[in-house]
Amino acid sequence: MTIANTPESGAPASDAVLESTTGDPAVSTEPAATLVGTGGEWWRSAVIYQIYPRSFSDSDGDGIGDLPGITRRLPALGELGIDAIWLSPFMTSPQHDAGYDVADYCDVDPLFGTLGDFDDLLAAAHGLGIKVIVDLVPNHTSWDHRWFREALAAAPGSPERARYLFRDGTGPNGDLPPNNWQSVFGGPAWERTTNPDGTPGQWYLHLFDRSQPDLDWENPWVRAQFEDILRFWLDRGVDGFRVDVAHGMVKAHGLPDYTPPADAGSMGGGVVGLEPEIDANAALDPPSPPYWAQEGVHEIFRAWHSVLSEYEGDRVLCAEAWVEPLTKLALWVRPDEMQQAFNFTYLSAGWDAAELRLVIDRSIAAFATVGAPSTWVLSNHDVVRHASRLALTAENPQGHGIGPDSPGLPDPVVGLRRARAASSLMLALPGSAYVYQGEELGLPEVIDLPDEARQDPTWFRTDHERYGRDGCRVPIPWEPGEPTYGFGPDGSTASWLPQPRDWDGYARASQEGDPESTLSLYKLALALRSSHALGTRELAWLPGYGDDVLAFTNGDVTVIANLGAAPVELPVGDLLLSSEPLTEAALPTDTTVWIRTTL
Ligand code: GLC
Repeated sequence: MTIANTPESGAPASDAVLESTTGDPAVSTEPAATLVGTGGEWWRSAVIYQIYPRSFSDSDGDGIGDLPGITRRLPALGELGIDAIWLSPFMTSPQHDAGYDVADYCDVDPLFGTLGDFDDLLAAAHGLGIKVIVDLVPNHTSWDHRWFREALAAAPGSPERARYLFRDGTGPNGDLPPNNWQSVFGGPAWERTTNPDGTPGQWYLHLFDRSQPDLDWENPWVRAQFEDILRFWLDRGVDGFRVDVAHGMVKAHGLPDYTPPADAGSMGGGVVGLEPEIDANAALDPPSPPYWAQEGVHEIFRAWHSVLSEYEGDRVLCAEAWVEPLTKLALWVRPDEMQQAFNFTYLSAGWDAAELRLVIDRSIAAFATVGAPSTWVLSNHDVVRHASRLALTAENPQGHGIGPDSPGLPDPVVGLRRARAASSLMLALPGSAYVYQGEELGLPEVIDLPDEARQDPTWFRTDHERYGRDGCRVPIPWEPGEPTYGFGPDGSTASWLPQPRDWDGYARASQEGDPESTLSLYKLALALRSSHALGTRELAWLPGYGDDVLAFTNGDVTVIANLGAAPVELPVGDLLLSSEPLTEAALPTDTTVWIRTTL
């Protein structure tokens, strides 16, 4: 068997075993931006990179990343070969939930800069052929938002209160909350107000922190405000919106009591993960919790779709909707609603070939019924980074996070190896893929943050029972060398969450040019994904491989991922990419290869 390796590809392979060829035109290290700007529905196959602004790059040394910091670092993302960036919220906010508590949707928080800084960022990104998606948080505002302050100052039953979900309490003196709903971050989902005369008043609903009151989306006034907000950003030139909690905006009439299953992840409220025996097609419409996935949300997105259609270019909406089964999630991306929805079923799948194959099949099939591409995602700012998650040996529901006392903590070597194999698999799939900042560096979850450094409201609202999401939000390393690994400007020592002492090797600059680095693996994968147009081709499974192996073709590329213990014989062809150095002509455990087969 001959597997030929192209030296310029950077594929980590051993010369001793693998033959070299040169001049392979299929292997291009040109930026993958070629799919952008060609006009037609760029998002169908795009690789979209999530920037978590407070942890990306800090230009002013206050320890919190900012917009000028992002602009300064954009060329590195151009070199990585992504098509678009999604920016987590940078709007005015008291930061009780790291910016997902917005006090002014049409301004930039001074922590992150100014609207002028945003315009500069947008222009610089567009100059590099990178589209820009911003985060929109419509389910709730901050309690500092003018709308909520006015509502608190107004009387029960007033139009101001009708913007939110204020209700009288239950029990003899209204001392008990209006229903039994629990906050995603732990504790009750209701907070009691105090009247101007000091007496206890009505309660308001907050599915998240008490600083995040839920808006009442049945109210046309609320809908009108958000259409204006969409236009504000569209007029500035953004290419789209990632829509926060897009499955939660409408609540069931009467706000009935509901108790979620004990093993539910914090955002789903229903089945999380995909058990192979669950037949998604048979369960087209399982009952949803009264605060998730209500039919009424779709009317909102149809209206937003119309707003976006008024603008030139392909503007997009991407739903953060923790909805299962996939057949139900597909309703969010019907032709007159959103363009994309995060595929959290894929993210939630274990490192298990049968489960992954099932999810991949169901994803492609479910989204195809509405003419939408599937998306793929492995990490974001709400989940344990996949370089750690894929090696956990105990259950860990989404949102709970991991810390020093968590059961089944990951072996970091196994975790990184699996992450490289998993990313190599994901980036070979047709459709659009999301990459979370730092995963291209192989960053693990930071497990041993000091208790006093933790900031996620989950940590506080569960009395430290759940660690929450801080471990995936630690500022990323750019150059080797403390104090901030280049996150902050020279001389700065500040970082809003402490960075581990052993991150030199993860720093981008340490990995540049090293063919075996995770950064080189991502660059190669993105370049090949673009040159072989993998995002727009079709997947066909290959027969003859064992249960622990995922093997398929996508266009002219054969992808084989070995999740089992036994080595797998490789077919003849040119090795385009391998997630681990290959020392023999067989694929070892937890390794993915891309091969151009020669028949
Ligand atoms: C989304 C965000 C998460 C935030 C929550 C409340 O899930 O991704 O970070 O805490 O919404 O806005």
